[in-house]
Amino acid sequence: MRILFIGDIMGSLGREMLAEYLPKLKQKYAPQMTIVNGENAASGRGITEKIYKKFLQDGADVITMGNHTWDNRDIFEFIDGAKKMIRPANFPKGTPGKGIVYVKVNQVELAVINLQARTFMTAIDDPFTAAEALVTEARKRTPLIFVDFHGETTSEKQAMGWFLDGRVSAVVGTHTHVQTNDARILPQGTGYLSDVGMTGPMDGILGMKRPAVIEKFMTALPRRFEVVEEGRGLLCGCLLDLDDQTGHCKKIQLIQISPDRPFLG
Ligand SMILES: [Fe+2]
Ligand SMILES: [Fe+2]
Repeated sequence: MRILFIGDIMGSLGREMLAEYLPKLKQKYAPQMTIVNGENAASGRGITEKIYKKFLQDGADVITMGNHTWDNRDIFEFIDGAKKMIRPANFPKGTPGKGIVYVKVNQVELAVINLQARTFMTAIDDPFTAAEALVTEARKRTPLIFVDFHGETTSEKQAMGWFLDGRVSAVVGTHTHVQTNDARILPQGTGYLSDVGMTGPMDGILGMKRPAVIEKFMTALPRRFEVVEEGRGLLCGCLLDLDDQTGHCKKIQLIQISPDRPFLG
């Protein structure tokens, strides 16, 4: 199975990049499964039902989320019916939504798990304990398991990669909005990448308009951040080739599309 994973879609520019390039990426790489992180899709904060449906229309099979899951109130109206959307599984008990979903292509089943780290982030349940339980559950059904680990630090992400090595097909990070250059396959067969990067405006600060961010760093005063809605676009993702029998990752490859790195279909 070949999986295409695309990182944090940020605002309208991110949505436009996805709509424009997902069909082209599918044509070029022919992935059987496309997973998209949508936590910043609605003006940088959360996702709406309309956007969720548009992503499915554009060709996404599963939408993962993160710390911005609840930022747009629309989420509470549709998350229970959004079968293809998952939010971090280690959100506290009683939280709406789910953290694992199973998707099938040609009789081959893939489990997709979303987890969130804790270092420099909101204090939620332990992602390692949650991973242990979910991976044990998933492995009874399929060896093909993809984990989107939404976190701030490379250390916590590496720890999760090693913790799950040989038990899942891939651990790929999201949240920092900056793609890391450490794609590798761990010794027991798990594909690993600290962060896949974001899809959206190229010239903001992590996608937000620069002046307010710089001002906040300089003054420590509260500032409202707004997502950049125009200018140059960036798409970040990765491709994973999995062995359908063992679930092991055979190849992991970075994708970046930007004016500097144009798409060569
Ligand atoms: Fe994000
Ligand atoms: Fe995030």
